Amino acid sequence: MSHSTAAKDPAAAPSEAKAKPLSPVPFMSLALEQQDIDAAVSVLHSGILRQGSRCSELETRFAEASGATHGLTCCNGTTALQLAYGALLSPGDEVLVPAWTYIATASMIVAAGCKPIFCDVREDTFQIDIEDAEKRLTPKTTAIAATHLYGMPVDIDAVQDLAKRKGLAVIYDAAQAHLATYKGKGIGAFGDANTYSFYATKNLATGEGGMVTVNDQTLADRIAALRSHGETEKYLHTSIGFNYRMNDITAAIGCSRLDRLAAQTQARRTNADRYDAMLSEIDGLEPPTRTEHADSAWHLYTGKMDLSKFSCTRDEFCAKLKERGVPTAIHYPRSVTRQPAFAEFVMDHPRVADSLSERVFCLPMHHDLTEGHFEAIRMALETLGIRMR
Ligand SMILES: Cc1ncc(COP(=O)(O)O)c(C=O)c1O
Repeated sequence: MSHSTAAKDPAAAPSEAKAKPLSPVPFMSLALEQQDIDAAVSVLHSGILRQGSRCSELETRFAEASGATHGLTCCNGTTALQLAYGALLSPGDEVLVPAWTYIATASMIVAAGCKPIFCDVREDTFQIDIEDAEKRLTPKTTAIAATHLYGMPVDIDAVQDLAKRKGLAVIYDAAQAHLATYKGKGIGAFGDANTYSFYATKNLATGEGGMVTVNDQTLADRIAALRSHGETEKYLHTSIGFNYRMNDITAAIGCSRLDRLAAQTQARRTNADRYDAMLSEIDGLEPPTRTEHADSAWHLYTGKMDLSKFSCTRDEFCAKLKERGVPTAIHYPRSVTRQPAFAEFVMDHPRVADSLSERVFCLPMHHDLTEGHFEAIRMALETLGIRMR
């Protein structure tokens, strides 16, 4: 990596002032379009506010777009995990889970009466380190819960290989990975279940919302029953379940936004390429490494700082970026093993996962980033990349 020095003398205040955006670069682009609002209003007019035809439509279309044969809508990504875990795990099971993920991937393992076994992640891709995971297997291990974190698929071949050799179920937490692909197939084609979130900030956002996709009819039926009080016929409850259903207002927004998701994902991919080129030019800043054979959904673009090259902390660096109109986010400020809620399950703090919280930063990522935004981001990164060493 080398410094690119053109037009970024830290003393060159006028050129910096010129490049300053009039308003900050938006971190996300969340606005609904008129057709999304019309779709929701038309459900309101219909009076059918429950789970109905719009949920079925979202299930069929999203599953197909994801490479899966069955989709089951539910009320959020957390309940999607609960449904998948509920259908595939038994209380007392040990489940391999990355120590670097959103809390729900691990906390819903506990909610299912199982024990999370925290594994380290790879320094390059931030994804579960399958070699470390294999060392943590015990006779009680029955499953792997792997997160396609930031939208980047994990090394699915490695996960599936371990699962096959050891007879483990695989649940992929794809909350951030809508339309991501692996070896040219939608990620829904792999594993026992994939779970999604349609939370307000996700690539496909319905406010609250979620889905489980699977490729097995019996499993789909089991999840459908769990989603709705174990009901297999009207008022016949053959198992204990919950009410985790989505409603048609939410699903109508999801269907409408799904029309634009492929194009928006493509725009994110183009933007990720631009960021990669930009970060590679700045000594001490590292673009995220891509999983081989994978195409990310780029929910978040997460770079890394080599702190030995800077005289400031990551937080100080990000504060200066913000002053220059470039907001950042930290996903995550601590590894899950550092969450007090997991104290009784933590055996160690896996090394890489434990150190990432000091070093990672997420740059604005969405389909609406413009040339002007990129110019402002490049200028801020380059200037600070020199000034804060
Ligand atoms: C990786 C991951 N898993 C699970 C969830 C939970 O989804 P929800 O907020 O829809 O319950 C999220 C949401 O941020 C997530 O990012």
